Amino acid sequence: MADARGLPSQTQPDRFTCLAAKARAGQWSAARDIDWRRPPRLPLWITRDQARATISQLYHGEVATSRLCQTLLREFEPGPARQCLEFQTRDELRHAEAFKRYLESLGGVAEMDDNLAWALDSAGSGPAGPLGAMVAFHVVVEGEVLRVQDSLTRLLPCPLLRQINRRVARDEARHVAFGRIYLTEALANLSTEARSRLYGWVYDLWRQTTKLALAESVGSGTARRILRSWLSGGWRHHEAALHQIGLAPGPDWGRAA
Ligand SMILES: [Fe+2]
Ligand SMILES: [Fe+2]
Repeated sequence: MADARGLPSQTQPDRFTCLAAKARAGQWSAARDIDWRRPPRLPLWITRDQARATISQLYHGEVATSRLCQTLLREFEPGPARQCLEFQTRDELRHAEAFKRYLESLGGVAEMDDNLAWALDSAGSGPAGPLGAMVAFHVVVEGEVLRVQDSLTRLLPCPLLRQINRRVARDEARHVAFGRIYLTEALANLSTEARSRLYGWVYDLWRQTTKLALAESVGSGTARRILRSWLSGGWRHHEAALHQIGLAPGPDWGRAA
């Protein structure tokens, strides 16, 4: 049942209780549980500034997600789902702390990319109020962050960054599970039209962000081809996640898209 603000009371407290217990047991410390004695190790094909600029976007994404969690907490009644969100807020702040400390060894946090700034701003102001923001952040922003982390872990053979990413990815898997359970239940309260509108809005948000990223990408040839193929794989990934929470395109989708 949805309340006046569009966030439903939860009918699956057992699943949230279980996730909250896992979150409690999985808490770690960015200061103590990462071996900071190891310096960052970058391969020759990437400069220190390029690595700093890329990893800084992960840091900014973590900070933005922690802010959204803090805002959403105002909408949640006390209970197991709220506990999950409280743990997630702590997790995101800890992730930001770990990336910031890593970035300090590369010269400090770089500015937020304009595309990311636009996407984060738009993600917080879509249809369906806080529920729409949750979809955009849990599915698109966190989904993209996981994809970037996964690519970085494969491309950058830096043991320190891998250790951070392993810790972060474990937390993110819990956040994804929480978002999936919560949103599946919450979105079932919306009409079919409202759900397809939300799907279309998320698609437009993603498409606009990737268009900007492509337009601004410098250089040509291999780097641009890698970016293009990485971006085109993105929507298939998000589409599957949206289907899992009950969001699908409306009948006009082919013409609208
Ligand atoms: Fe995070
Ligand atoms: Fe997260």
